[in-house]
Amino acid sequence: MTPKKQGFSVWVTRRIPQPGLDLLAGFCAIVDVEPEDRPVSRARLLEQVRGRDGVLCHLTDVIDEEVMEAAGPRCRVFANYAVGYNNIDVEAATRRGILVTNTPDVLTETTADLAWALLMAAARRIVESDRFLRSGRWDGWGPMQFLGQDVHGAVLGIVGAGRIGRAVARRAAGFDMRLLYTDPEPRPDMDALGARRVELPELLSASDFVSLHAPLTPATRHLIGRAELARMKPTACLINTARGPLIDEAALVEALAERRIAAAGLDVYEHEPRVAEGLTALDNVVCVCHIGSATLTTRTRMAEMAAGNMVAALEGRMPPHAVNPQARRPAG
Ligand code: DGY
Repeated sequence: MTPKKQGFSVWVTRRIPQPGLDLLAGFCAIVDVEPEDRPVSRARLLEQVRGRDGVLCHLTDVIDEEVMEAAGPRCRVFANYAVGYNNIDVEAATRRGILVTNTPDVLTETTADLAWALLMAAARRIVESDRFLRSGRWDGWGPMQFLGQDVHGAVLGIVGAGRIGRAVARRAAGFDMRLLYTDPEPRPDMDALGARRVELPELLSASDFVSLHAPLTPATRHLIGRAELARMKPTACLINTARGPLIDEAALVEALAERRIAAAGLDVYEHEPRVAEGLTALDNVVCVCHIGSATLTTRTRMAEMAAGNMVAALEGRMPPHAVNPQARRPAG
């Protein structure tokens, strides 16, 4: 059923694929989309949320108590265009009866693909070799050129066996890898893949590849610091497609520069869009720009899902992906 247009006013803090905007436009009287394709300033955020019934926001927007206060009493929902929602103070939203929603599942496989792209690129020195060729320095095949790490038959350690961690693990079967994982709870589908649940120190010292998939919480900030990097094999590669602050980035730069680990593949950074000093000067790190879910299909699905969550909340229904369902208020 096509939803009826209501008197709602919503703000989209940065443009998303059109199907999500169309869905909002079919339901709300006012849909304002931020014209600039860059993170909104704090001042703009505080100004534009005022009087809105809902806000479709991004992981680059810090949605805290001050923003909720600025939004005012009409605000029912912050629909985050991401599976992670560490940018939103969910407790404050719940206290105010504001729903927070996210976009799980649709981006799982796409993000797992990117973790593998980084793993392969870091292990086989793809970007370094590409840069070398383009620079005109390559003088032909060499027996000692760009020696990397074998992926097949290696040990893959998954830190956090949630949806994305498990999707990364499933792909390892094609490479005959052995799997280890850490997670607060046993995961039967990881066990079915032959994965063994261990504590983090064991995973770090036994793995050839360590891939991070834990959510960012106060407990997981700097999960990988100097001590943890020191446990890793000198031939190991560290992959992060989760959240940057899981790694102490300055400590990682040191470990890579001193070749205490072989390589890293990073999609996310501790202080995005800045990266730690010295990181980009290193040859043994592959850096991409937080593109885990960045395929046209997945970002379009995320847009539809975020907009669907928003519409449900405005209608007084429970959004399919509410992270604080207890905040729901009756319609009106
Ligand atoms: C997420 O969804 O949390 C990703 O980091 C952004 O697509």
